[in-house]
Amino acid sequence: MCGIIAYVGDREAQPILLDGLSRLEYRGYDSAGLAVHTAGGLRVQKKAGRIAALSAAVARQPVSSTSGISHTRWATHGEPTDANAHPHLDQSGNIALVHNGVIENFHELKQALTLQGHVFHSATDTEVLAHLIGEHYEKLATLSGVARLSAAVRAALGEVDGTYGIAVIHRDLPNVVIGARRGSPLVVGIGATEKFLSSDAAALAPYTQKVVYLKDFDFVTLQPGQFDLQNLGGRDTDYEIKELDFKPEAAEQGAFAHFMLKEIFEQPETIRNAMRGRVDKDTATAHLGGLNLTGEQLRDLRRIIVLGCGTALYAGMVGKHMIENAALLPVETDFSSEFRYRNTPLENDTLFFVVSQSGETADTLGALREAQRKGHRALGICNNVGSTIARESDGGVYMHAGPEIGVAATKSFISQATVFALLALKLGRLRHLSASAGGEIIEALEKLPAQVEVILQQSDAIKNIAEKYADSRSMLFFGRLGNYPVALEGALKMKEISYLHAEGYPSSELKHGVIALIDKKTPSVVIAPHDSLYDKNMNSLQEIKARCGPVICLTTCGGRDTGHLADEVIKIPQTLELLQPILNVVPLQLLAYHTAAALGRDIDKPRNLAKSVTVE
Ligand code: AGP
Ligand code: GLU
Repeated sequence: MCGIIAYVGDREAQPILLDGLSRLEYRGYDSAGLAVHTAGGLRVQKKAGRIAALSAAVARQPVSSTSGISHTRWATHGEPTDANAHPHLDQSGNIALVHNGVIENFHELKQALTLQGHVFHSATDTEVLAHLIGEHYEKLATLSGVARLSAAVRAALGEVDGTYGIAVIHRDLPNVVIGARRGSPLVVGIGATEKFLSSDAAALAPYTQKVVYLKDFDFVTLQPGQFDLQNLGGRDTDYEIKELDFKPEAAEQGAFAHFMLKEIFEQPETIRNAMRGRVDKDTATAHLGGLNLTGEQLRDLRRIIVLGCGTALYAGMVGKHMIENAALLPVETDFSSEFRYRNTPLENDTLFFVVSQSGETADTLGALREAQRKGHRALGICNNVGSTIARESDGGVYMHAGPEIGVAATKSFISQATVFALLALKLGRLRHLSASAGGEIIEALEKLPAQVEVILQQSDAIKNIAEKYADSRSMLFFGRLGNYPVALEGALKMKEISYLHAEGYPSSELKHGVIALIDKKTPSVVIAPHDSLYDKNMNSLQEIKARCGPVICLTTCGGRDTGHLADEVIKIPQTLELLQPILNVVPLQLLAYHTAAALGRDIDKPRNLAKSVTVE
């Protein structure tokens, strides 16, 4: 969480920092602040609330400056107040710091610094790091200039436990920004006479296409005409200058009311992008070169474990269903955060997949490292090219979904599920799956984009349903097999953006307890495509109706008509049972979106959330 953007160059810094922050606002929006070098010293402005509040404050008192640091916060330590907003200053007021991450030993450090006479003005862990840097700076009086600040930052970072991506400036060093990372992402943007530091390359796209992704323990000093990249220990370190693979307009909202709606409507293209160049009709299989495994190695796998958080985990659960069915290969799924700390029995020949849109989720990164530490190969399914998980995994599959800005994940789910379908096809064809069955999967996959279009055309009808039930206190989502994770995802979307209480269950679990929640004010969404468990789902639907619960039934066209049984029916195209979850999620995204819109919620920036959770 938190977005950092820093600038040194020959242009006015404040507009660039504010524009960068607005592109990073999806990462956190509790407060925003900036510190710039001016002729009279450092100018710090910070405000609780959205970036608009900071922009207004800056507009009231503009200053000229060509370097500075800025931050949009997702609070971990201390409430979202002006005082807790970043940047934080050291005791002298000469050093300013912005930070993404958590300083785990901040309490001990704060106590020690307090005894030395330091006075703190916030409840954050970050301010402690600022003071620690200042304390070292005072002691390093034999050094001067950039060398003194660098040494102070290095010494302070040597004392902290936890995670950080930081940007630091000193009032006496205009046009110098120091950056360092451990656990939280940072990327350097390179222009001929200007340099940038950002939490996410997407914020740099309007300014430069040349970037360097920092690794853990990298330490960078930026000046307008140069940057110096070392490790924390002061040694030179390898780096690669990469060209960004997306254009700035990909991160623009366009004519849509919200990024989330834009991203829902992009999904036909998202599926095409995930499949592009990966389907081989002649041999009825998929090509996924990035797996870095031979056909033999893939064929001989005994088990797959899929790890992720939130939506990424639910896509992984859909993947389990697909791989187990198409390849008869056992697949387990787990929360990244739980896997890390459990004694999971692991066999050799187990392959891990970690799933993450951002590629920066701290829990998933930790799980990836833990799997590798135990000697297993771990592959990534990531969207963000160059992200930490993409770089640290032993290979994997890029989603190519383009930037996802809405905090509620939508197109990333469909993209991940499509990647899992390709994986299931490939693994299946290496094992028992016949060429004709593989061909059927390919044919069905190719039809999905047009089928999603058909669902999107029903957006207005779904809006009417959403408006009818928007004042419910709670909503239940039921689905079975591959549609159980879709029910979980539908409930998660509803919770995240409408703040309605929502739960997802297998419909079969209804009678084991959940049924106690059914009453005439609690709508249930029953996912009942015409598949092998259609009749069982209908039994659940009847059980809900028998208790006067309103039912929104999501079913497929063709087959028996159930319109008379449910209060509302959403009919969508039918595909193979294996792939149906990919289509079924779309109406649930629209249902959540329109419910949140009816309730006037802040859809792209729901309360308490942030897009990329880079703290544990
Ligand atoms: C989805 O709507 C959520 N905001 C959240 O559950 C998200 O999917 C999760 O934090 C994982 O993110 P990642 O894919 O970037 O790792
Ligand atoms: N720990 C810092 C704070 O609470 C930074 C939070 C973050 O990176 O999300 O202000």
